[in-house]
Amino acid sequence: MSKKKSPRRSAEWFGKSGKDGFHHRSWMKNQGLPHHLFDGRPVIGICNTWSELTPCNAHFRVLAERVKRGVYEMGGFPLEFPVMSLGETLMRPTTMMFRNLVSMDVEESIRANPIDGVILLVGCDKTTPALLMGAASCDLPTIAVSGGPMLNGRFRGEKIGSGTHVWKFESMVRAGEMDMQEFMDAEACMSRSVGSCMTMGTASTMASMVESLGIGLPSNAAIPAADSRRNVLAHMAGRRIVELVEADVKMSDVITRDAMENAMRTNGAIGGSTNAVIHLLALARRLGVELSLDDWDRFGKDVPCIVNLMPSGEHLMEDFYYAGGLPVVLRELGEHGLLHKDASSVAGGTIWDACSNAECFNRDVIYTVDKPFKPQGGIAVLHGNLAPSGAILKPSAASAELMQHRGRAVVFEDIDDYKARVDDPELDIDASCVMVLKNCGPKGYPGMPEVGNMGLPAKILREGVTDMVRISDSRMSGTAYGTVVLHTAPESAAGGPLGLVENGDMIELDVEARRLHLDVSDTELARRRAAWQPSAPPQDRGYAHLYVEHVNQADAGCDLDFLVGSSGAPVPRESH
Ligand code: FES
Repeated sequence: MSKKKSPRRSAEWFGKSGKDGFHHRSWMKNQGLPHHLFDGRPVIGICNTWSELTPCNAHFRVLAERVKRGVYEMGGFPLEFPVMSLGETLMRPTTMMFRNLVSMDVEESIRANPIDGVILLVGCDKTTPALLMGAASCDLPTIAVSGGPMLNGRFRGEKIGSGTHVWKFESMVRAGEMDMQEFMDAEACMSRSVGSCMTMGTASTMASMVESLGIGLPSNAAIPAADSRRNVLAHMAGRRIVELVEADVKMSDVITRDAMENAMRTNGAIGGSTNAVIHLLALARRLGVELSLDDWDRFGKDVPCIVNLMPSGEHLMEDFYYAGGLPVVLRELGEHGLLHKDASSVAGGTIWDACSNAECFNRDVIYTVDKPFKPQGGIAVLHGNLAPSGAILKPSAASAELMQHRGRAVVFEDIDDYKARVDDPELDIDASCVMVLKNCGPKGYPGMPEVGNMGLPAKILREGVTDMVRISDSRMSGTAYGTVVLHTAPESAAGGPLGLVENGDMIELDVEARRLHLDVSDTELARRRAAWQPSAPPQDRGYAHLYVEHVNQADAGCDLDFLVGSSGAPVPRESH
């Protein structure tokens, strides 16, 4: 049964006669746009996160031009517009705080303008969820085009991965195994080309989520940014979005519950970033798709990690593309009953149509479900008296010997306390302890920074120890690794039990049993709770104030409470 088509929004601006139409067309014509472009053809907004302050997206002007070629070829009318960009490496306190702000920018920019369909140019970590979330609340025909990863890093003959080797090299410097000159020499060797982090960090994970959700074209995840085929992909997306507008295929027609389940399983198979958990929970809630934190465990449990990419493995995104890329992973999942094959793809047809012919060219990079790279992919969702609303751990990045562990808590009240004391020779800590970091959640920092994989104390590193159990209410970079419990909810600054932990308390982690337990009596916890005072400084104005007042906890995706859901894209009232 064919569905009733939505009226074309842009006609409400460009199709009018009289004074209103004059206003809308005349000023646009100062850009040299000929009259025939206003004849009712689909207007495609190209939402661009280009910025020189977001180096991962610095090539996006070229991508936007390629999208325009495709749109014009199909008889559409492309109009590029900027939104706030989020450069992961420079922005403070953390880009996560601004994800929701950008989503508002995107949503309002789309709804307020004569746009019939949207291309989202996404790349650096938070730009992907921010644009998806904003577009979801408008629910027009939409395609996301990722910018692609950088070329492989190489240093002294070896592959080095974005982020992953920063943590490694920093530990080596602190352990006295690398000098500062070598450390600085590695900088230029890591970031050799345009593009996003080339490990399976958050950017590559979210690009893979885009592809597995069906909202991006096949191979969106892995084509290197510097590869000419990335430009071809942008060009083809420009062609397809016009067709999607003609067929009235909205974002909510593509990103369904089945698509979300495909994405969660894909995240397990690629050993993807823990950040995807928060972003997909937030996206689902914009679209009205039922999705819970526990779904991440449910749909990751039976999925092994089948890609050998840093931080869990040894290869990088360039290798992943040459090995066949994400379509090979999706095909593997599909052949083992782990994919909803009939979920839609913006490429046209189903997700299975987009991957069923994929070939693998390097089994050292992409393994199989029957002979996986690591038996346990996915995300473990932990519960217990330390995390009543849940916490997560990424098994593929953790140490097997620490997956069941009982240790003495060493508490850092906030990130400044951690930095001041972690290398103090007098710090009472050994490798069996559990490092606890408070006040780094959504409200507490504010913005939930990626500090959960806090570096080990120098004196422990010098013993040759490389991992300890660490617990916090913060996040972890997708390029990081370790036995790290993250996203503990409720967070300490919101009165969660994490805020009640004291030095010397015993903590039990049992990943197999999905248990995170603070071995302190309920009576004692009640006593501590009665004496608890919030220690995070109040934010008295501006966006930080709005954010802290309204941000949801990690198990609900850290969206602002008033942004959850969709308003669609009704045409706003005329103002002239
Ligand atoms: Fe931009 Fe990693 S810092 S993708």
